[in-house]
Amino acid sequence: MAAAPDPEDGSFWMPPQISTIASNVDWLFNFILAISVFFFVLIVVVMVVFVLKYRRRAGESAEASPNHNLPLELTWTGIPVAIVIVIFFFGFKGYLDMATPPANAYEIMVEGQKWNWSFTYPNGYVDANLHVPVDRPIQLVMSSADVIHSLYVPVFRIKQDVVPGRYSKVWFEATEPGEYDLFCAEYCGTGHSDMLAHVVVHPPGEFEAWLEQASNFLETMSPVDAGRKLFQVRGCMQCHSLDGTAKTGPTLLNIFGHPVTLSDGTTVIADENYIRESILEPAAQVVAGFEPVMPTFQGRLKDAEILAIIEYLKAPEGATQEDNS
Ligand code: CUA
Repeated sequence: MAAAPDPEDGSFWMPPQISTIASNVDWLFNFILAISVFFFVLIVVVMVVFVLKYRRRAGESAEASPNHNLPLELTWTGIPVAIVIVIFFFGFKGYLDMATPPANAYEIMVEGQKWNWSFTYPNGYVDANLHVPVDRPIQLVMSSADVIHSLYVPVFRIKQDVVPGRYSKVWFEATEPGEYDLFCAEYCGTGHSDMLAHVVVHPPGEFEAWLEQASNFLETMSPVDAGRKLFQVRGCMQCHSLDGTAKTGPTLLNIFGHPVTLSDGTTVIADENYIRESILEPAAQVVAGFEPVMPTFQGRLKDAEILAIIEYLKAPEGATQEDNS
């Protein structure tokens, strides 16, 4: 896979331009910046000159204020109006381009959840990273499982809120293969700054092969490996550590087969049924000392996937091995 373009490819203000709309966004930004700098300098210079030139001096009294000056007033009204219309025209045109995906856009479903992203491809495969083919319009149809998040890919110049209870959309067309950063840009709780993912732009023809290979992981991997992958990809590790530290949820170090104290004071053994129930009905038996904040995975994990996660939590090395690939 091609390395991400050198950060030097970006400008002083901006990261590299990797989408078809990026140069328009940057052009408008630079245009508004130049106007702002021009008027800032003009106003400050004129102000300083006038303060010095017309300051109060001994023996001179203030003159009466002048009456209207129609040409001057028309000038200082007309020029800003013209500038604002130009900014509106290019801003609105750019907005329409960004809001209207081409009819042949490839659709990927996105879900934001405290605190990870999941990307569902047309064949049903779910990944923690956004994989796309280069030079092809992509439409993201996005929703949130809990609070407002915001999907932000600086190199594409796209940022769109992801809101619970409705779908929001954003589209882009990547122009350069490589691996880029994807952020959450809306403060969504303690794990907000960990809510990261990669965008992998595949060279021509390689995206389909990647999707085919990645989708078959339940067949090609052992249940333990598949469980490890699901644990990382589906957001489990954002809240459950495997090293004994408590995060938003209890650690899953050595959990399998051991007693767990629940919030009502009773104790259960964490067996297959307990883990399965905790995934599908997280609020049913909450571990003492934790809030019932975990979202349900009912309908989001297949039986074979739940089984793989159980196998992973059983495996002795499951508790120690962490792989962030
Ligand atoms: Cu999700 Cu910030």
